[in-house]
Amino acid sequence: MRTITLVGIGAGHPGHLTLQAIEAIAAAEVFFVLEKGRAADQLVAVREAILSRHAARPGWRLVRIADPRRASGGDYREAVADWHAARTRLLVEAIARDLPEGGRGAFLVWGDPALYDSAIRILDAVAAAGLAFHLEVIPGISAPQALAAAHRIPLNRIGEPVHVTTGRRIGEGLPPEIDSTVVMLDDGSGLAAVDPAGLDIWWGAYLGTPDEVLMAGPLAEIRDAILTLRAERRAAVGWIMDTYLLRRRD
Ligand SMILES: C[S@@+](CC[C@H](N)C(=O)[O-])C[C@H]1O[C@@H](n2cnc3c(N)ncnc32)[C@H](O)[C@@H]1O
Repeated sequence: MRTITLVGIGAGHPGHLTLQAIEAIAAAEVFFVLEKGRAADQLVAVREAILSRHAARPGWRLVRIADPRRASGGDYREAVADWHAARTRLLVEAIARDLPEGGRGAFLVWGDPALYDSAIRILDAVAAAGLAFHLEVIPGISAPQALAAAHRIPLNRIGEPVHVTTGRRIGEGLPPEIDSTVVMLDDGSGLAAVDPAGLDIWWGAYLGTPDEVLMAGPLAEIRDAILTLRAERRAAVGWIMDTYLLRRRD
């Protein structure tokens, strides 16, 4: 039977790779990459650098799969479901074609495969579509961990919960009972919509990469500066990924 490993590669720094990830990369012969266009060129380049350093099987190969576009507008969940179905079809074809029976394939997954990533769900769908393989998951350093380390802060107050959510959700308001909220997948509109009263923010973009930028302080005072910097960096680099912690002030 084929084995497919989802390898969490961390949030952008080549040193985020764990020893377990390095061993899994060295053992694989085919690496699948879903390419998402220009915005993600640099993310593919990070993966290629990892492979050129750690892939070790003679004749190892990279198989690029053009990621289908997600429909914009309409029902969000429906659009995501259609997008995942299209990806599933492409992956079934690519795995059947490019990974021999008994072979070891791998996907290098940004951050940790368990956090806001579709790879596990899509490979479950590939298996449900009738392609048998053994699935392994190697955890990786996620963006919230990279954010906390960069700012040298804990994510939670002592004994208190941390809420992890998306920019889309944060635009609808912060959960009233939780004081620490980590926000990912925000195009800036969530941050712009939040009521800043009594909140501090620890923000980071391109965490772990040479482009890393950090800002921290009272949200009411620095939100405009973050949004301006965000827009500038996005225009200059061509894409941006940012993560932030919002915390109610004591
Ligand atoms: C599709 S999710 C992937 C999350 C990933 N699986 C993880 O564990 O961090 C993409 C989001 O992760 C966050 N992210 C990933 N890498 C980042 C980085 N280097 N700097 C800041 N945020 C990052 C951003 O919020 C981005 O919108």
